[in-house]
Amino acid sequence: MSTRTPIIAANWKMYKDHLEAIQLVQQFAYHLKEEDYDGQHIVICPPFTALRSVQTLIHADKLPMLLGAQNVHTDASGAFTGEISAAMLARLDTAYVLVGHSERRMYNAETDAVVNAKARAVLAAGMHAIVCVGEMLDDRRANNHIKVVLDQLHASVAQLSFTDPEALVIAYEPVWAIGSGETATSQDAQEMASAIRSELAQIFDQAAADAIRIQYGGSVKPGNIRSILAQDDIDGALVGGASLSAEDFALIVAHRRL
Ligand code: 13P
Repeated sequence: MSTRTPIIAANWKMYKDHLEAIQLVQQFAYHLKEEDYDGQHIVICPPFTALRSVQTLIHADKLPMLLGAQNVHTDASGAFTGEISAAMLARLDTAYVLVGHSERRMYNAETDAVVNAKARAVLAAGMHAIVCVGEMLDDRRANNHIKVVLDQLHASVAQLSFTDPEALVIAYEPVWAIGSGETATSQDAQEMASAIRSELAQIFDQAAADAIRIQYGGSVKPGNIRSILAQDDIDGALVGGASLSAEDFALIVAHRRL
């Protein structure tokens, strides 16, 4: 049995203003029982404009959820109009930051080197980095998916330093499964997660590889969460579309009793 604490994270992407965000978290919490929070980390990653509102709600209502951000800048401060630093996020009690999501790699030309620098900034600010990796459909069709993902992983986490390996989370999100309704089969997801864990042992060491959590993301729904989390090397899920529905996300988080 793994001792890794499962982590289920909601990536709201560019949906929900701060008022809608408060409502969504309240509705989500309403569906949960205390036991649903036990033994797992539940992370909400709203857009930047809603971080403060969600943080205030989490504190005021003592909700056992953690705040996450969807992006961060590499530098600590500077003349970077429109950017947000890791220290600013940490000050807001942000616990987790997504880095290298495929949408940012694709639309914002984030390279592995940028992702690496962002992860470094997140860890240095005392937060947890969720480093996203995943192959395109063509890579999988060419049976090249494992190499592509491991190369991405290697370059994205190279020389990261942490005292607690829990600070680093890897999210495996096959790009073709995002928002498409297609999920990798649980066996495919496990095959990749296991390859990622072996690679982490090479990059860091076996103890770190055993402690780093690996999430699956890509069309995670209430109907498939159980088979995904049943896999040995999958320690959680990164949920997009289904996290925008309080009912669906609650069904995902409460999968152990439903
Ligand atoms: P979907 O759950 O909508 O497929 O999105 C996955 C994702 O990109 C989470 O980061």
